[in-house]
Amino acid sequence: MTSTMNSPVREHAIALHGVRVEFDTPQGDTNTIIEKLDLSVPRGQFVALIGRSGCGKTTLLNMVAGLVSPTSGEAQVLSGPPVKARKHIGFMMARDALLPWRSARKNVEYGLELRGVSRRQRREIATRWLDAVHMAHAERMWPWQLSQGMRQRVALARTWALDPEIILMDEPFAALDAHTRVSVQLEFLNLWQEQASTVVFVTHDITEAISLADRVVLLGDGRILDDVMVDIPRPRDLESLRVDHRFTELYDRLQRRLNQLPDTHDPAAPTREEEN
Ligand SMILES: Nc1ncnc2c1ncn2[C@@H]1O[C@H](COP(=O)(O)OP(=O)(O)OP(=O)(O)O)[C@@H](O)[C@H]1O
Ligand SMILES: [Mg+2]
Repeated sequence: MTSTMNSPVREHAIALHGVRVEFDTPQGDTNTIIEKLDLSVPRGQFVALIGRSGCGKTTLLNMVAGLVSPTSGEAQVLSGPPVKARKHIGFMMARDALLPWRSARKNVEYGLELRGVSRRQRREIATRWLDAVHMAHAERMWPWQLSQGMRQRVALARTWALDPEIILMDEPFAALDAHTRVSVQLEFLNLWQEQASTVVFVTHDITEAISLADRVVLLGDGRILDDVMVDIPRPRDLESLRVDHRFTELYDRLQRRLNQLPDTHDPAAPTREEEN
């Protein structure tokens, strides 16, 4: 697969219908994080999810991963309940904990071991992905010997090594320096194009969202406030993209919308007036 753009209508990998998520607060109140949300992600699509801190992005990923159940509405992943799709989902959480008693390499091999992949194959796969994230030199190091960005890269390699059908990533490149970040982003785009996985990717960086994704979804006020296709052909040159008028138009639109939102989700706050 070279691109998910212009493909015929495909089955949805993820389908959320009228989903509502509420949490109980320690004060005994109910906090509504997601009010009523519909989101369908076709197989193979790369979606970036953006929104202010506390608006429910991680909650949404947790719901797709089967870790949080909607209070009402329906969440379907690979045409069934999310928990049934778990083995097809690779979830890289925002602060992904590596297993402290395993070296970087052994962390990458962990999921493969659970799947019964042979030792030789495990080594081959781990080598490929440690290489992709520029961590081959640190394969024997222990998690406590690694910097935050290095740990994040090992966690990326661990997620990708399993070749999941659906990849959920929560701010996966946040701790990387600019140079490493671009190179790891490119590796990820290659992986996605080769393996045709469906991706939902949370980021606070609008540039990153537009550069990588097919579609950017803006979450706020407990619902989807904007949902735009990134109509820029692939392969994209991540460096020159920023001067492309399609990029700047999308960037301005999403930035404007984000600026209109409060910092955190506050159910008591007056709702934003609709613009259209
Ligand atoms: N298990 C839980 N129990 C109670 N409240 C929760 C739970 N998980 C999340 N929340 C609340 O839901 C809201 C949304 O949290 P979430 O982590 O989804 O936000 P986010 O958009 O990922 O924010 P950030 O960008 O800071 O990571 C927050 O107010 C948070 O306190
Ligand atoms: Mg989060």
